[in-house]
Amino acid sequence: MDKKNNIILIGFMGVGKGTIARALVKATDYFAIDTDDLIESVENKKIKKIFKEEGEPYFRSLEKKCALWLEKNVDNTIISTGGGFFRQENIHSIGKVIYLESSFEGILNRIHSSPNAKVKLKKRPLLSNLEEAKTIYEQRIEDYEKVADITVDVENKSLDDIIKDILGNI
Ligand code: S3P
Repeated sequence: MDKKNNIILIGFMGVGKGTIARALVKATDYFAIDTDDLIESVENKKIKKIFKEEGEPYFRSLEKKCALWLEKNVDNTIISTGGGFFRQENIHSIGKVIYLESSFEGILNRIHSSPNAKVKLKKRPLLSNLEEAKTIYEQRIEDYEKVADITVDVENKSLDDIIKDILGNI
């Protein structure tokens, strides 16, 4: 099968994957979907509730099912992902992987400067304890970089510049 023409945005929670996907839709002919939104929709439950009632392994099994479905059925689309989706084995069969890179402090600043910071923190079970979140961040940063076809630094950059960077790289 030919390499698919999807753009997959990976990166840590709160780095701006959804915001950047929406800006890419405005700037191009692409449309976008989000893996967490797809999972919430098929389960008819918020991610937080899935974690609480079914546990993280069940959520990861849904991510896997979603990844297999994306590979088989989706093309020419921007795909924003949950922060742990980059571990899907078939990610490179889905499309071009773009890692949105920022320091942990940069991510926290971004969340806190948002008008709905409380909502952003509340809906993410793995951000409820910042010490633990930092440990997860440190465990993951090397792997994000390894999985990525392209790494884009998003810290202290305007959305316009980030979009230019991405479009100049793909
Ligand atoms: C997760 C990130 C979340 C969501 C779930 C697990 C993770 O998505 O998929 O809470 O493991 O990093 P965001 O990156 O959109 O917060």
